[in-house]
Amino acid sequence: DGDVYKYYSDGEWKKSSSGKTVSIINPTTRKTQYKVQACSQEEVNKVIDLAKSAQKSWAKTPLWKRAELLHKAAAILKEHKAPIAECLVKEIAKPAKDAVTEVVRSGDLVSYCAEEGVRILGEGKFLVSDSFPGNERTKYCLTSKIPLGVILAIPPFNYPVNLAVSKIAPALIAGNSIVLKPPTQGAVSALHMVHCFHLAGFPKGLISCVTGKGSEIGDFLTMHPGVNCISFTGGDTGIAISKKAGMIPLQMELGGKDACIVLEDADLDLVAANIIKGGFSYSGQRCTAVKVVLVMESVADALVEKVKAKVAKLSVGAPEDDCDITPVVSESSANFIEGLVLDAKEKGATFCQEYKREGNLIWPLLLDHVRPDMRIAWEEPFGPVLPVIRINSVEEGIHHCNASNFGLQGCVFTKDVNKAILISDAMETGTVQINSAPARGPDHFPFQGIKDSGIGSQGITNSINMMTKVKTTVINLP
Ligand code: G3H
Repeated sequence: DGDVYKYYSDGEWKKSSSGKTVSIINPTTRKTQYKVQACSQEEVNKVIDLAKSAQKSWAKTPLWKRAELLHKAAAILKEHKAPIAECLVKEIAKPAKDAVTEVVRSGDLVSYCAEEGVRILGEGKFLVSDSFPGNERTKYCLTSKIPLGVILAIPPFNYPVNLAVSKIAPALIAGNSIVLKPPTQGAVSALHMVHCFHLAGFPKGLISCVTGKGSEIGDFLTMHPGVNCISFTGGDTGIAISKKAGMIPLQMELGGKDACIVLEDADLDLVAANIIKGGFSYSGQRCTAVKVVLVMESVADALVEKVKAKVAKLSVGAPEDDCDITPVVSESSANFIEGLVLDAKEKGATFCQEYKREGNLIWPLLLDHVRPDMRIAWEEPFGPVLPVIRINSVEEGIHHCNASNFGLQGCVFTKDVNKAILISDAMETGTVQINSAPARGPDHFPFQGIKDSGIGSQGITNSINMMTKVKTTVINLP
């Protein structure tokens, strides 16, 4: 019936006084794998209070000591990669090898963050007054970066560990405290990750992890007056949060419809390999997945043939067997994906493979001759199904890309670098990759979306800066 896990508050593992739990369904078996505590609003109040007071002394802990603890947590995280990866396999059906990669990448992110924090937070500014008209040199201004306070971190199911530490580590190095609300699918992986921070010896109350139902504690957390910043990754919920949150800094990353524009001179083998990697890794459940291919008509047949041949080689099955395509996260997600596929079929898309589904497992599918009247031309499936739209000009491709509500990343394939740069400038997305599939990493690169894809910029340096504010002291000379 599933192991029951406790939540983390005041440096201890606790059962919720609600007496209730939330079940985590294994996407592969569709049976309850684990249970986590359904925390109450009183318990949320308690962790926010603790976070508030722990933050005060943490901010006074020397920067090098904060960095040292983060390095320790990173090492412990890497030591624990096997049990954490096992949870990722069971909770979110991430292929076994990718699950290990997620944990190792997270350890590296935490270490890099500690190093970067020491550098950028170790510096301030010194200004003099007489550069501004009308002033004598009578004022010296000292600036430094100070923490915001309590950071609420809400990562999504697809990277419950990595997208948690990408919020936790910058927050901590900058002298903030953390309240983590993990996604339900992925909550146990997140709790294991938090255990690594616990073992590293961070002060009590500085880090908390509350689990539970969004309906019970979701709005309560995001609208809580004790929260000083929200870092959220996920879907539409982020838009609702941004409307309800108070006057606090928000960092939001909310999905995308990343386009892959393929020009006539592109290396089609390179494009096909990147479409497979970009469109089908983790079964398309990445915000940065290639979600629409916009290919010049003259090379479309050749490209589709090459992609088809590679799709045929993808293994489909259980995450434990490290298959390329594994069950999508939930039945409702599989139903949504199926809805997009059936709509496209009805409206005349060409299916390059037969559509096949068993439970939450959907076989990879390339849909050719997709047209703008089909939902899949615009909506984000978050599954292993990829539409191809044939275009007659580059402008048509850019137009489709920019007509989307999303603007996370995009990519363009061509041997003409000048053209690629002009296309990049024309694409209204946070990042454009030239001759490679979209991706967030390396994790110190800036990562941001425009329009409905998000607010603010992430990446290690930007996240540290975002989780601080500037404090100035002015010395007035006689
Ligand atoms: O799902 C959203 C992630 O931020 C994408 O990260 O490009 O490393 O898969 P990724």
